[in-house]
Amino acid sequence: MGTPSVSDTSSARRPAAVPLPLNASPDERSSTLKILQESVSGCVRCTELASTRKNTVFGVGNPAAKILFLGEAPGADEDEQGEPFVGRAGQLLNDIITACQLKREEIYICNVLKCRPPGNRTPLESECTNCREFLDGQLAAIDPEFIVCWGTTAAQNLLQTKQPIGKLRQQFFRHGRARVLCTYHPSYLLRNPPAKKDVWEDMKFWRLEMGIDLGNARKSGS
Ligand code: URA
Repeated sequence: MGTPSVSDTSSARRPAAVPLPLNASPDERSSTLKILQESVSGCVRCTELASTRKNTVFGVGNPAAKILFLGEAPGADEDEQGEPFVGRAGQLLNDIITACQLKREEIYICNVLKCRPPGNRTPLESECTNCREFLDGQLAAIDPEFIVCWGTTAAQNLLQTKQPIGKLRQQFFRHGRARVLCTYHPSYLLRNPPAKKDVWEDMKFWRLEMGIDLGNARKSGS
């Protein structure tokens, strides 16, 4: 693929929460997140989700991370443990992180929804809308340089588009200060392993933008 392009598709309809100053300390970011996490843990905006969840799943990782990973919603394991991406999809995500020459501690990981949809159904639009304020708060507190959207729900919700994920790959969008890359969800890769090569292409494309050439590195999980 050619030179990375940056299309500005941040939503004009939805002003992002005000980012902390660029020089905000990790402690400042962390305490902003803590306050937000408390609101999430008591949230009952989505009656069904609030009545079926075991735990809310706020997010985990470095509050001063340059990289934020955005998934869809907690699954059963995440609901049980209160942490994102700890199940099978999370293990694959860990392999991808390693293949990208990164450590999980360098990344902040969260989801569009903070509660598990029963039976892991796709989040409803109303649920994404209810939860968006919390995501915007996280994005503002962390103010990452890069956001990777894993899967359709993350990509469409963040960028406020209906474009299919296959059309959103291999380019950079902008959300506030962050460059946004969209790729397939690890759960999709578990169901459809041939798509791993596409995700690997996306990872190489993204890491090159960060100055890391993964060109000849080994493919993850293949
Ligand atoms: N899938 C997601 O999108 N997020 C998780 O936390 C786990 C699985």
